[in-house]
Amino acid sequence: DEHGTLKLAVIPGDGIGTEVVAEGLKVLDAAGVKAETTTYDLGAKRYHATGETLPDSVLEELRGYDAILLGAVGDPSVPPGVLERDLLLRLRFELDHYVNLRPVKLFPGVTTPIAGAGPEDIDMVVVREGTEGPYAGAGGVLRRGTPHEIATQESFNTAYGVARVVRYAFAKAQARPRKKLTLVHKTNVLTYAGDLWMRTVESIAPEFPDVTVDYCHVDAASMFFVTQPSRFDVIVTDNLFGDILTDIGAAIAGGIGLAASGNVNPERTAPSMFEPVHGSAPDIAGQGKADPTATVLSVAMMLDHLGLTEAAARVERAVAADLAERAGAGTRSTSQIGDDIAKRVAG
Ligand code: NAI
Ligand code: MG
Repeated sequence: DEHGTLKLAVIPGDGIGTEVVAEGLKVLDAAGVKAETTTYDLGAKRYHATGETLPDSVLEELRGYDAILLGAVGDPSVPPGVLERDLLLRLRFELDHYVNLRPVKLFPGVTTPIAGAGPEDIDMVVVREGTEGPYAGAGGVLRRGTPHEIATQESFNTAYGVARVVRYAFAKAQARPRKKLTLVHKTNVLTYAGDLWMRTVESIAPEFPDVTVDYCHVDAASMFFVTQPSRFDVIVTDNLFGDILTDIGAAIAGGIGLAASGNVNPERTAPSMFEPVHGSAPDIAGQGKADPTATVLSVAMMLDHLGLTEAAARVERAVAADLAERAGAGTRSTSQIGDDIAKRVAG
């Protein structure tokens, strides 16, 4: 607001979501960012208690914040799809988070499963389309549960939706030293959607003459993530391909405990939402075992989005320093890692 106080909505969610979000907020505080936070109880607990996923009134309230920080939602006790569709995807669609931004960056000192690869080889950003594709919820089922069942799941690709995410990705590539943009799709088989994506990239490319444009089929890209990640700088891709590729990205860049993301509304017509890529991890919830680093890096992305670039850089440097000294260090709890990063940020 006008006093420089950040109005932040916090959705800790379920399982380790609450544990990692506490550390993210600790680091935000240590960065000296004045924030007024409001916590929203959404997720599996709320669903079981009241049957609600995302009440309309909560959605309207959320529109009034500068940003949203989310931990993770989900629990094996909730039928699959309920929280994903009615809460997470609904937030992304309603708040028009058409850019799902997922950096894949290997920090010094972090172990990658790729033999011989170092931080200079793995430093990319995946720009995943967030509001269309097969995730748009279109499709249907006939004769369910019979041998004659028909299920369809349609992929929506609009000229408008593809152009805006492609233009964002070009600008992102333009702002990075390598200035390389790779379209990842499956144009040889998904010929209608692929053609639209390809033509869109080709038509926008002249606006960014400094950016080198490349194309890679998604299956080949999956292979190159593991064999030759240095091929990639900025990737633009559809919702489903981006979802899958960024899990490979997390795996090669130190694991799910480090993977951050932003659901970004670049026009700022609604707040953007920042969250670790991982889920609620019921297997380790409540034990202080979760790594809060992905959430802390998501906080850094949030600060960057809000124009607090100095604070964002400070948080990222603190994480880098913490990661550099992790090897050989003893096992730390969730809150110990948060404390250590917060100390570096403040110090
Ligand atoms: P998950 O990401 O919760 O866990 C996968 C594995 O990674 C588990 O072994 C877990 O212990 C480990 N892990 C995850 N985050 C970690 C961290 N910060 N530190 C250390 N280890 C970590 O994925 P899973 O098991 O498939 O899903 C669990 C629940 O979370 C499900 O209900 C699912 O729907 C939900 N989910 C929610 C997401 C979200 O809120 N955006 C994203 C992915 C899953
Ligand atoms: Mg995923």
